[in-house]
Amino acid sequence: MLVSLSYPALSRRCPLALAVVAALLGTPTAIAAEAAATPSVAVQTVDTLEKLAGGPHAGFRANHAKGVLATGKFVATAEAKKLSKAAHLQGAAVPVIVRYSNATGVPNLPDANPNASPHGIAIRFQLPEGRVTDIVSISFDGFPAATLEDFLGLLNAIAASGPDAKKPTPVEAFLGGHPAAKAFATAPKPAPVSYATLPFFGVNAFKFTNAAGASVYTRYRIVPVAGDQRLSDADAAKAAPNYLVDDLAARLAKGPIAYSIKVQLAKDGDDVNDATKVWDSKHVEVTLGTLTIDALLPDGAKAEKSLFFNPLLLVDGIAPSADPILLARPGAYAVSVGRRVGK
Ligand code: HEM
Repeated sequence: MLVSLSYPALSRRCPLALAVVAALLGTPTAIAAEAAATPSVAVQTVDTLEKLAGGPHAGFRANHAKGVLATGKFVATAEAKKLSKAAHLQGAAVPVIVRYSNATGVPNLPDANPNASPHGIAIRFQLPEGRVTDIVSISFDGFPAATLEDFLGLLNAIAASGPDAKKPTPVEAFLGGHPAAKAFATAPKPAPVSYATLPFFGVNAFKFTNAAGASVYTRYRIVPVAGDQRLSDADAAKAAPNYLVDDLAARLAKGPIAYSIKVQLAKDGDDVNDATKVWDSKHVEVTLGTLTIDALLPDGAKAEKSLFFNPLLLVDGIAPSADPILLARPGAYAVSVGRRVGK
């Protein structure tokens, strides 16, 4: 399968392969040996995510391991096609598969555990002729690092900060020198009442281009029609381990749930390539359409194993920004998929 032949997965499974490639290309032996000895940053990141989750947990994602699949549809507004010629933004109803998830690679993490936040939503738009495009977002507006290397630095600092770590612990030192990571780590992230009452944020920017060739950078915001509702700390402490999945099943048995998918438009002077820089509420927002979820996917536990969501699975009319975090994600995800599929 294509994914298992990706560069990061290949380098992990067969470090020698890199040395062989380097030798064939005439790369000096010392460089080839170093390349063979050092796993890529994506591989190191997935290794650390697995370690932090007490894993590896065979057959599960290295991050956002606990999830649930649902189905529904998306219908775009007339405003959407003024921004982008993307096939799913032209107004026709598009079937979707959605995966809601808890953060971390812990497959049985209780849904109200603070580490389950930010939660995730991955949305796959199923277009005619088998084409697909994805939005992969989290329930927090911002990210702790602007590069993969910095994100790995944070994960490694957390991994080195066990109960016996000397003060200041590596993670305290890291947060001291990285204000965005500190803001992310210390911001309150109260447990949601329901996946139907939780907003999600795209964090990375994408370039939308319309049929006339006009372009604008945007960031997704996925806003629940039922409003943003959170549990009190006392209610979160009493919540059942699978309350979010149980709640979703109970709500969907009574009727669909809905979200507005919106985008913020970049303003002059915005850094579109830095996921740590939050775009404030003064940004113009355009509603792209309504996402309606109507059922859990039967046999979803089996299906989610082989599903590979990818924020760079795009269609004409939407292009990635040059945000290094965005560009690093598919490589890291491919490593995780390569380890999961077939287990
Ligand atoms: C360099 C930064 C990041 C790294 C290394 C990373 C790593 C990962 C990995 C390894 C997975 C598991 C993929 C799989 O096995 O299918 C994953 C899943 C996920 N990530 Fe990231 N991630 C990063 C940034 C982000 C950002 C910025 C967002 C959202 C704005 C995000 C949202 C998600 C979500 C929602 C999932 C679950 C997807 C699903 O349900 O299949 N990640 N991430």
